[in-house]
Amino acid sequence: MDLHDIHQPSKQKSLIKDSQIHLQFSNLAKTYDNQVDWDEMMMRLGKRRKDLLNRAKGRVLEISCGTGRNLKYYNKENIEKLYLSDNNKEMLSKTWEKCESLFNKDINNKVIDNEIHVMENDDLKFSDNSFDSVVDTFGLCSCKDPVVTLKEMKRVCKKDGEILLLEHGRANGFFKEFIDKILDKSSIDHATDWGCWWNRDIENLVKEAGLIVKEYHRYNFGTTYYIVCSKDWITIISVTPVVIWLTYGMYERFYLKKPRQVLYDENGDPVIVMTAKHKRS
Ligand SMILES: C[S@@+](CC[C@H](N)C(=O)[O-])C[C@H]1O[C@@H](n2cnc3c(N)ncnc32)[C@H](O)[C@@H]1O
Repeated sequence: MDLHDIHQPSKQKSLIKDSQIHLQFSNLAKTYDNQVDWDEMMMRLGKRRKDLLNRAKGRVLEISCGTGRNLKYYNKENIEKLYLSDNNKEMLSKTWEKCESLFNKDINNKVIDNEIHVMENDDLKFSDNSFDSVVDTFGLCSCKDPVVTLKEMKRVCKKDGEILLLEHGRANGFFKEFIDKILDKSSIDHATDWGCWWNRDIENLVKEAGLIVKEYHRYNFGTTYYIVCSKDWITIISVTPVVIWLTYGMYERFYLKKPRQVLYDENGDPVIVMTAKHKRS
């Protein structure tokens, strides 16, 4: 088989039907957590999930939430309301169970208000600019059109919000060619067994969707992608001058110890120069 474009979602669609992928997740739902626990531990994905989800705040939407593997990593203090969605009812039923035990019976009585929706990623039933954080972990590998999904995430994210991604896909670095070849060769079998295409080029898909990358890390020979995006340049451009102004102000005040206030006598001559240090004492 010609493998040169087998990492492209358009090609993959012609090889395995969406309905087959969907059915595979329904079959996997009951045992999914047990089956992936070990792999995730070996690849330190728990830590990656925790780091990423620590950034989630305010109104949060997590798409393709599957069996709710992220629920235990959210920082409850930062979250106003959590919306969870997936198009597979069997996978979602596990999320529902976990919400019951993790959120509603918390020892500190801090409850995260949440809603669970059966929903397609490429047609999210939420209005534009409605979430502070939009999360997807290991979902772009199995949805039928990842660029459309990313564009939907972008649409529902607020202008100053963040799109938080933890994904798997093609490798980078010295072993790239070798690993990508293995991923491509085994991709049909893997997608048949796991409902996921592990050879997608996540970096390119994010670019195609027009997201602005704020933070980007690769792990496990580059096959694990940790990406924080914002919706557009406007936020970054509008925030940057304020950050520069604040940083320079601090530098002047605490490092150069520049006077903050000068008092004048009746002739207009300076008599007392009050620095930040004087003022504190
Ligand atoms: C590999 S699992 C990842 C689950 C979870 N996010 C995690 O980190 O463990 C992918 C999930 O994406 C869901 N999914 C696939 N295509 C979808 C689509 N078009 N719309 C919504 N959910 C989809 C599947 O049902 C499955 O639960």
